[in-house]
Amino acid sequence: MLTARFKSAPIDSAELDARILVGAVLGLDLTGIIAAANRCLTSDEATRLEDFARRRLAGEPVARILRSREFWGLPLTLSAATLVPRPDTETAVELALEMLHAAPRPDRGRRIADIGTGSGAILLALLSELPDAYGVGTDISEDALQTAHSNAVDLGLAGRAGFVACDYAAALSGPFDLIVSNPPYIRSADIAGLATEVRDHDPRAALDGGADGLDAYRALIPQSARLLAPEGALVVEAGQGQSGDIEGLMTATGLMLPMPPKADLAGIRRAVAGRKLPP
Ligand SMILES: C[S@@+](CC[C@H](N)C(=O)[O-])C[C@H]1O[C@@H](n2cnc3c(N)ncnc32)[C@H](O)[C@@H]1O
Repeated sequence: MLTARFKSAPIDSAELDARILVGAVLGLDLTGIIAAANRCLTSDEATRLEDFARRRLAGEPVARILRSREFWGLPLTLSAATLVPRPDTETAVELALEMLHAAPRPDRGRRIADIGTGSGAILLALLSELPDAYGVGTDISEDALQTAHSNAVDLGLAGRAGFVACDYAAALSGPFDLIVSNPPYIRSADIAGLATEVRDHDPRAALDGGADGLDAYRALIPQSARLLAPEGALVVEAGQGQSGDIEGLMTATGLMLPMPPKADLAGIRRAVAGRKLPP
């Protein structure tokens, strides 16, 4: 029984992981698996499931095995170059929408930038909520950008989404009404101690935030402050304990802090917002 093998590994989410992998092999969703509980696997299906099981037992996350993950209710394809989008990042999407809705609406389509877009998760979530908006995602990884573009195509959002390879926001020209980013923010020295699911399977460029974890914020906050329209907002995801330093970097570039950081479901201050002052 797959669940028992996963439990004895031990894998915390043993039952859910087993169901998702069985569902992927059978082409069934979670409800469909319950309905098909007595169905026997063909030998091809059994071989495929055993391959998935071995990979999961070796520490590979389900999202990597299946090369897909849902974010903000949107199915996203992943590649080796993209981070697996995390539920915590939905906190940054929520705060970004709050900031946008609290600002006067421009008399043109709203312009959004997502710095370090990875799979396109944040940008595509925002575009799915904002039918009048256009967005650009940047990344240092061309492979990640290809995956993000193909996700935009699959979701019918490619007509409003562009992708650019550059160092954070260096190649962009404003003005933007909203800039969002979930940059790499793990301290370099902490990477070796991360869970194998993250350390060995998420790309290093998506994790490593330098000696104190704040290198990316030091680069992208001043860039973003220059690119924002008056009353435009910058929203960034923060690692645990980083929100105060990030607020300091925002105020040092002249952004104001309109609200306290937004906490995720674990109570960690996960998303920080700054706003550019009106002229
Ligand atoms: C933490 S991941 C976030 C990915 C995606 N936004 C998400 O939330 O799932 C950080 C992303 O920043 C990209 N990145 C790292 N350094 C960069 C740089 N100097 N310029 C642009 N993007 C960079 C990585 O390739 C990675 O895709």
